Amino acid sequence: MSDTNLASRGNWSSRMAFILAAAGSAVGLGNIWKFPYMTGENGGGAFVLIYLACIAIIGIPIMMAEVFVGRNGRRNPVASMRLVAERNLSNPAWRISAIIGVLAAFIILSFYSVIGGWSASYVMHSAVGDFAGQDAEAVGAIFGDLLASPGILLFWHTVFMGLIIFVVSRGLKSGLERAAKTLMPALFILLLLVVAYATTTGHFGQALDFLFTPDFSKVTWDTALQALGQAFFTMSLGMAIMMAYGSYLGKDISIGRAAVGVGIMDTLVALLAGLAIFPFVFANGLEAGQGPGLIFVTLPLAFGQMPLGVVFATAFFILLLFAAWTSGISLLEPVTEWVEEKFAMSRTGAAILSGVACWLLGIASILSLNIWSDVYLLGMFDRFAETGILDLLDFVTANIMLPLSGLLTALFVGWCVAKESLQDDMAMSDGLFNLWRNLLRYVTPIAVLAVFIYNLM
Ligand code: PHE
Ligand code: NA
Repeated sequence: MSDTNLASRGNWSSRMAFILAAAGSAVGLGNIWKFPYMTGENGGGAFVLIYLACIAIIGIPIMMAEVFVGRNGRRNPVASMRLVAERNLSNPAWRISAIIGVLAAFIILSFYSVIGGWSASYVMHSAVGDFAGQDAEAVGAIFGDLLASPGILLFWHTVFMGLIIFVVSRGLKSGLERAAKTLMPALFILLLLVVAYATTTGHFGQALDFLFTPDFSKVTWDTALQALGQAFFTMSLGMAIMMAYGSYLGKDISIGRAAVGVGIMDTLVALLAGLAIFPFVFANGLEAGQGPGLIFVTLPLAFGQMPLGVVFATAFFILLLFAAWTSGISLLEPVTEWVEEKFAMSRTGAAILSGVACWLLGIASILSLNIWSDVYLLGMFDRFAETGILDLLDFVTANIMLPLSGLLTALFVGWCVAKESLQDDMAMSDGLFNLWRNLLRYVTPIAVLAVFIYNLM
């Protein structure tokens, strides 16, 4: 690519802008739905402790490695990996980690947009009072009807993808940065409001107990592996996202501090989401560990029974929509950067092309919820005998592509990047730098391999 192109590549306007954008990517369904429910199933506080350790020891170091590659290369993720490898006299084939990441981002966005569409449709349902005073059956039917209607799903999928293309096509400062600076604080405020409302249910103490009282008798090897997998997913690692975002990061900003900031924000939102959701669950005697239904059936049911329920249900689903929106933006960014530079296209053209391609693939996921619900592409394997298209794409990306990409990046930065130049870029004290590098060289690969093998078994 040409020098003019490189020179015109903007920078985040501050460290905070980068942190908010990266946190916008990190904060999503993983925090608001998955974390609370996994915590409940895995012994509460004990799981939280292990999870926090995984964020600190695996999540933050890999995030730093990805941001380093992006900032050092200052190109799209694939080109950055190649350039950094060449600079360090390593095999340019290491860029396979970024290729897997960009591909994973593309596939994930195709179905993430469908689920983002559910959130958008739930904002509507809540606002017009569809949940008010309804019983479990009626609320369940609203969800069931949504999944059964390809036309309605397609409509919301299109709306959601349109919102994402709109932001990404506007580029760094007026697109990504402005969206993160507005949506993230709004999300925090909405979350705090819902938590405040949750304290009025009379079951807040029970929720606190549920989330923070460690019960080590429930902790198994499996718990630790789940906590590790969740740390990976929740911080948006292995998708080349942090490489893409790092490519706009100024040299004067500390990568370590930024990564710690993102880790803290992501964790905070996960904990607050638990405090927002469980008081309602307990107040209504509902089942805590029940998966997707927790957000799309149980919670609307709870809100439907409460005073001001319409207002808070709407606030909650707007919050969910914002979280999904900023995550969706981050998924389109690495793909767009790659298309933009690879085919020398305009930013807008690249965003539209990538977005429309994702949108098309998303239609397969939509159909797998209804018309194609018995299409099992890998049905010949026992394990996937009843895995539909959406679930299959989810499985292949989350359990194979992400850990593989993250593992390769950790190995590359830990073993192939020259120590001096790495230390130069990271600008950390000797002690912290060596700790980080050793985590990447030894601890991260072993831990990721463990998750990887476990997931495949
Ligand atoms: N990190 C997001 C979450 O916790 C999930 C996500 C995955 C976001 C992939 C973007 C890309 O929900
Ligand atoms: Na997250």
